Amino acid sequence: MSKVADLIRPELAELGVYAPLEGDFRIRLDANEAPALLSAGARARLGEVAAATVWERYPDARTAALREAIAARTGVGAAEVFAGVGSDEVIATLLTALTRPRGKSPAPTLVTTTPSFVMYRQSGRARGWNVLEVPLDAEWDLPQSSLVRAFEMTPPSVVFIATPNNPTGNSMSRNRLEHVIEAAAGALVVIDEAYVDYASEDHLDLYRKYDNVALLRTLSKVGFAALRVGWLVARPELVAELDKVRLPYNLPTVSQSVATTVLTELSSEIAALCATVKEERARLCHALADLPRVSLTPSQANFVWLRTERPAGEVFDALCERKILVRSFHARGGRLGSQLRVTVGTRDENDAFVQALREVT
Ligand SMILES: Cc1ncc(COP(=O)(O)O)c(C=O)c1O
Repeated sequence: MSKVADLIRPELAELGVYAPLEGDFRIRLDANEAPALLSAGARARLGEVAAATVWERYPDARTAALREAIAARTGVGAAEVFAGVGSDEVIATLLTALTRPRGKSPAPTLVTTTPSFVMYRQSGRARGWNVLEVPLDAEWDLPQSSLVRAFEMTPPSVVFIATPNNPTGNSMSRNRLEHVIEAAAGALVVIDEAYVDYASEDHLDLYRKYDNVALLRTLSKVGFAALRVGWLVARPELVAELDKVRLPYNLPTVSQSVATTVLTELSSEIAALCATVKEERARLCHALADLPRVSLTPSQANFVWLRTERPAGEVFDALCERKILVRSFHARGGRLGSQLRVTVGTRDENDAFVQALREVT
């Protein structure tokens, strides 16, 4: 073992493995996946598409049909789309390509907010990046002036802003976001729109307006997490460089063909699923608003962010005893010690969760 310890990059000592909690849960509301709402017809069609796979050949290395489908759906050109094995691979590819240090720091710097999606830090540290996490304000909104100060202290190469944010579920104020983009002019600002299908607005206009903006999106949150398909919308010059860095044939044939079908012929399935989840979100929030020792952050995502008077760790354990898994961040302490993140599930799952929460808070 000492040999491995002598060889690995020292930053790995700070990191844990990204893996969901295992266990025998009746209801899993921990990973922001969509409930199983795909119609029987759509399931059958995707089965046909998967069955037509040419198993002996490598996938399309250029992901041409998929990128065309994404581009058409988004209203950009295919040369502006980079597709990866989930947004996670896109993040990793960006952090492999954009490593030229800026300013005095020997390592490149990534700036993001906290709490936010953990893979920015994980992927950055695993590649030796200097990672600066600026705390969100008291309403979990963008800390505009602290971010600008951070940029002045250490000019970043990349800034990640998730909106709607994970785990807080709220969208970042647009005027603050625009200010931050302008202040980060020398960096690439990645607006992570993993939950955009549940939000009231997207940021395509900011992508068009600012050269340093890219958008990150995924199929994982709208019913197709199994495919692992995510993508970046960015300037063609950046896409061409990322193409050199990605692994050959990164996206399996089945993921490409099924995702292409989902985004074209079956796009109404995504719309129907999101509409149902938004209705359920409203119903869930209404029920939670009636609970006395619980408060809610308004959600623009497919999950809710709850504050409980009882410590979140205790609530989490009591829910686990009832075989309901949610996500708690109590181990990180501070203001996260009373917060829980709960995915919007099916009607029955949401009702069971509210009932259990009523009993344990
Ligand atoms: C903000 C955000 N970005 C990206 C991802 C990763 O998505 P993917 O499944 O496409 O890798 C997640 C997943 O939880 C997320 O919350």
